[in-house]
Formats: sequence, structure tokens, C-alpha cells
Amino acid sequence: MSEPLTLGVAGLGTVGMGLIQLLSAHAPRLEKMLGRRITVAGVSARSRSKERGEGLGDARWFDDPVALAKDPSIAVFVELIGGEDGVAKAAVEAALKARKHVVTANKALLAKHGVALARLAEENGVALNFEAAVAGGIPIIKMLREALAANEVRRVYGILNGTCNFILSKMTDEKRAFADALKEAQERGYAEADPSFDIGGFDAAHKLSLLTCLAFGTTLAFDQIHVEGIQHITSADIEAATELGYCIKLLGVAVETAHGIEARVTPVLVAEESALAEVSGVTNCVGIDGDFAGNLLLVGPGAGAKPTASAVASDIVDIARGLVMPPFIRPTAALESARKLNLKAHQGNYYVRLSVYDRPGAMAAITKRMSDENVSLESIVQRRPGAVHPGQAWEPPPGAAEPAVNVILITHDTTEDAMRKALRAIEKDGKVTERPQMIRIEDL
Ligand code: NDP
Ligand code: HSE
Repeated sequence: MSEPLTLGVAGLGTVGMGLIQLLSAHAPRLEKMLGRRITVAGVSARSRSKERGEGLGDARWFDDPVALAKDPSIAVFVELIGGEDGVAKAAVEAALKARKHVVTANKALLAKHGVALARLAEENGVALNFEAAVAGGIPIIKMLREALAANEVRRVYGILNGTCNFILSKMTDEKRAFADALKEAQERGYAEADPSFDIGGFDAAHKLSLLTCLAFGTTLAFDQIHVEGIQHITSADIEAATELGYCIKLLGVAVETAHGIEARVTPVLVAEESALAEVSGVTNCVGIDGDFAGNLLLVGPGAGAKPTASAVASDIVDIARGLVMPPFIRPTAALESARKLNLKAHQGNYYVRLSVYDRPGAMAAITKRMSDENVSLESIVQRRPGAVHPGQAWEPPPGAAEPAVNVILITHDTTEDAMRKALRAIEKDGKVTERPQMIRIEDL
């Protein structure tokens, strides 16, 4: 029997305690499989006095995660604190410099400093593993690093934020209010410490930037991704999309074109018969188009204690087996600098919702602005004032100066540039009561 693999676990929240429970529940299995025990030698969290249940055994307590990261008693530092800078970054750097392997679930840290940390890991001959950082329980990092290593990836996309998918599903299926659904996601431990990272699309963009580096061998960073969140999606959009045979999802897409990589996280409409429409609640999915493997879609739980702990533990198992790979598949020196494509060049169909003053000529002015930009309309649906769906009686809002109607447009294939110009002109004409809502339609 080999020496036990000793861990230092920093962060004992949703994921940290999930990992402690998994290691305790599966200790005999793992020992038989690996021929060595995995033991938690040290732990660190903010509050020593917090009740954390059983499972910590006789692990030593460290007030300072950086001290734990460097401690001679550990071989692997497991960072489950979170945050793109601060103590998580300091501790991971300290661990790598002290030649400890590192396992982390921290996509914010990696999206900002991943390449620099990978270089540090390479210099010190240790692993930097992050399976849990993208799509929770779905083994997408291993899929790209190992199973698809010999493919050229053409596109990677996915529903990458469980909190947003949970909120959109509740709004669609149960007609729940946005804030109410978010509160439930937080109570279930899905949301980030700052939930604006989730609903603003930034958490999904952190994950997409990691997928983009792995898939295309680039250093494309988080700040090169176009990000829109779900905070502006209203129940009027949800209902209109449903009525037209679509479903609204927050989707991350990175696709290599002849002119560069288009990388974006935005709400999109997908057809109700699309496989993506079936992905509901906290479930995530990741699709990869490989040149030899073809099109793959992985679906599974994207957040929560158990699925995330499962992913963290799989990284620990790799280290226990002696596997050390370049964190971003290729050596950092071989990563190419990213060529980011301007989203104005994006081509596709669009959904637009306009709140239009109920005046003669308003619709004619709108369709003229569209035709000026060569945008062809596939359908136009106008609701009577105040109504969101058919059959709903209209009651004027108290104090409403002038009635407005919801107009829903679906366009034929066009460019983002044309759409933005047409909508800017419509807004300038003064025919709409608020900023037009524009959502891309994704043919997936
Ligand atoms: P939690 O907020 O539940 O837990 C964070 C832990 O870090 C707590 O134990 C906290 O201590 C500890 N901590 C905070 N600051 C310090 C500090 N200065 N020194 C030492 N410990 C500190 O977060 P999660 O478990 O949800 O997330 C952890 C990481 O996993 C994040 O990077 C997150 O993005 C990622 N992740 C989370 C998923 C999820 O489903 N929740 C899924 C995939 C990834 P205390 O308990 O004393 O407050
Ligand atoms: N807050 C994240 C989500 C956790 O909701 O998907 C998993 O990364």
C-alpha cells in the first residue's frame, strides 16, 4: 500500500462540505481502487466556530488558507473558497510555488489568471485541475483534455449557469417571479456568493472562457467575451416566446470563424423541439462539435454540493494516480493569442419586442426602419394594449398617459449590425415607450 495522499481543503461551504462527505462516504472504495488512502490533513474556513457536522475528523484547523497551502503536511491543496483575487489567488499561488498539486472549482480565478497559474504549475511540475469549475457535475474538462484531445473543435456551446436556467425554467413552467426563483436558487446553494455574477451572465462567461481556451488552444480571456445577462428578460418575453414555439435560455457559444473566434454569453430563443429546450432547472449542458468525433451533447447537474464534489474528487483521484497534465491541454507556451470577432458581424434570426404607442402610422414607421436596413420580417404579432397573451382582458395601468401595444417581430436571417441600426432608428423616432428588447434566435 502506497503512502496516503494528504489534502488541505480551504473552504468548507456548499462544495467543501460536499467533498468532505464524499471522501468519508467513499473512503473504502477509493482506497481499494487507488491502493492508497486519501486523507484530509488540514482545513481552513472563515469561521472556526461554525457548526459543520461530522466528517472533518482530526484534520488540523488553519485560520489562514495561505499557511495551509504551504504546510508540509499536505500534498494537494483544494481551493473551494471562491473569488477572482484575494485569498483564493494568494493561496493557490503559494501552493503551486511550494510544489503542491492544486484542485479548484474557482472559475472566476481561472478565467482571470488561469494562464499565469498554469505556467506556475508547469514550472513547478505539479497539477492544476479544475473539473468542477465548468458545468458542475458534467465531466467536460476531462472530455476536452482526454477523450477529444485528437479532434479539432469547431464550436463549443452550452447552458452553463444553473441559477439562470433554474430561474428561466421556473418563470416558464410555473409563472414564478424572477426574484422568487432567484431566492430559491440561493437557498439550494446554486448561486454564487454575489448572485449578480449569475444573473448578469458573468459566471457563464467565466466558464465559456475556460472552454474556449481548452477547445481552441487560445488564451482568450473572460474580458473578450460579449456578455448579456437575464436581468432584462420579462414575463412578456417568456410568454411571447412560448406562444411562438420557443424557449428562452442563457447560452454561451464560442465558434471559430475564418475571421476569429465569436464568443458570447446571451439569452437566446431556441425552438421548443431543440434538445436545449429540454434542459431545465439547475441542469447544464455542453455541446462540442469535433471534426472527427462529430457533434456531442453532455447533460447533467451544473451546480450543488454533490455533483460539484464529485467533479472535485475526480481531480483528486487523477493526482492520486500520478496523472499530471498541462492544465489547458497544451503547454502554456503553445497557447495562441485569441482573435476576437466583433459581434456586429454575427448573422442569424432575431426576436424583437417593442412597446409601441398605439398611434396611426407607428407600425408603418417600424417596418420602414427595418426595411431601410434590409431586415426582412418573418412574422409580426401585435397585442391589444396591455395584453401579453391572447384572451387577456386589458385594463389601463393607473395613470397611463397613452396606451401602448406589445409588438413581437421575428426576423429572417440578418446581421447584428443591421438589427442594431434599425432598432436605434426606431427608438429615435419616438414610437416606443421603452428600449426595444432584442434576443438572438439560436438554431441548435
Ligand atoms: P460557499 O460560499 O458555500 O463557501 C465558501 C467557503 O469559503 C466557506 O466555507 C467560507 O468560510 C470560506 N471562506 C470565505 N472566505 C474565506 C477566507 N478569507 N479564508 C478562509 N475561508 C474562507 O461557496 P461554494 O461552496 O458555493 O463555492 C466554492 C467555490 O466553488 C467557488 O469558487 C464557486 O464558484 C465554486 N463552485 C460552486 C458551485 C456550487 O454549486 N455552489 C458549483 C461549481 C463551482 P465560512 O464557512 O466560515 O463562511
Ligand atoms: N453559480 C453557479 C451556477 C454554480 O449557478 O451554475 C456552478 O458553477
